[in-house]
Amino acid sequence: MFLWGTATASYQIEGAVTEDGRGPSIWDTFSHTPGRVRDGHTGDVACDHYHRYAEDVALMAGLGVNAYRFSIAWPRVLPTGAGQVNQAGLDFYDRLVDALCENGITPVPTLFHWDLPQALEDEGGWLGRDTSRRFADYAAVVAERLADRVRMWITLNEPFVHMVEGYGLGIHAPGRALMFDALPVAHHQLLGHGLATQALRAAGAEQVLITNNCTPVRPASGSPEDLAAAETYDILHNRLFNDPVLTGAYPDLTAFGVEIPVRPGDLETIAEPLDGLGINYYNPTRIGGPGGDGLPFRFEEIPGVPTTAFGWPVVPDGLRELLDGLKARYGDALPPVYITENGCSYEGLDDQERIAYLDGHIRAMRRADVDLRGYFVWSLLDNFEWAEGYHQRFGLVHVDFETQERTPKASYHWLRKFLEGQSTDT
Ligand code: FCB
Repeated sequence: MFLWGTATASYQIEGAVTEDGRGPSIWDTFSHTPGRVRDGHTGDVACDHYHRYAEDVALMAGLGVNAYRFSIAWPRVLPTGAGQVNQAGLDFYDRLVDALCENGITPVPTLFHWDLPQALEDEGGWLGRDTSRRFADYAAVVAERLADRVRMWITLNEPFVHMVEGYGLGIHAPGRALMFDALPVAHHQLLGHGLATQALRAAGAEQVLITNNCTPVRPASGSPEDLAAAETYDILHNRLFNDPVLTGAYPDLTAFGVEIPVRPGDLETIAEPLDGLGINYYNPTRIGGPGGDGLPFRFEEIPGVPTTAFGWPVVPDGLRELLDGLKARYGDALPPVYITENGCSYEGLDDQERIAYLDGHIRAMRRADVDLRGYFVWSLLDNFEWAEGYHQRFGLVHVDFETQERTPKASYHWLRKFLEGQSTDT
């Protein structure tokens, strides 16, 4: 069955951050630190999905999707990241999964979408190797509770973005600005992914995926400098996270001047066979280089394309380019692919631009010569968009953050009609 779904993440929609024993996450700390998130917005209430999940499941049922990608908040399940399990936190996901199943919607949970328990960050977070093991223990706890109804699991969401924005540049939680010294965060997340994959399978999981943010990298020109810079950026953004998982080896990282703390056996664990690769695609990246700021590459605008309210370039065919590029690079080592996020930020209820965006990207993905098994729109609801707070609206459904009123946008109605015309095996 081809999965047509919507995607969300715990900290971006749930709210209820101190309820039923949930512990603090790095995003609670970060968003409450003045100057970190635009206009001081926090996820304290967000879409209040913790209390309104039944209404949100009904919205999905009305939309006609057959899958829902959501994330589980580690600090709801293990308030200090390890040790005592908080059953009340697990109960929430139990209720959510039941509501989805009752509506014929396949639950696809992601175990880590950036809301690390603060207690683990206090011990070094993903800079430390212990967090990988803790992650696997947490995965086992969740699977023990849900694997009777949940068949498909995603370990990590976008380890690249978490490493770069959270530990490299400090614009996301935990707000560290280590530049390339953040590279061990890649390895510890990937090791956590491998260990969690083993733990999930031991607990009865049938399908395990990782979700990587990928971008087709376009050199700004054919000059040797631009070509070399583009290759370096491609290694950092794409290959650092796909190569070890799919081929069991890291790409050449000498351009970054940092050693990755690999121990014997780690790469075998990381390359644990997968049932699918989750891809989040938003836009291509144009790279020239090197930058005058000491970086081995420089970001350039893509000329002649429209941009979203977030300023992100709209290039639907970039999705086809990306997928065909993955097939060319990995060949038979590429497992079935799921587009686990794709979407755009625009204002307004009559969001014709979003309709054009989704239509264009769905058509582009279908032109790619890969084994595609699913497509999830980011996002069901307008929500807390990380450092941008509530300023970027990605939802098919508008949320009034004063009243929590949900109003389906034109794109919701368009997608409903589109899905009515799809057979479930295309
Ligand atoms: C992705 C994140 C998701 C959302 C979208 C817009 O990088 O995974 O949480 O913020 O971008």
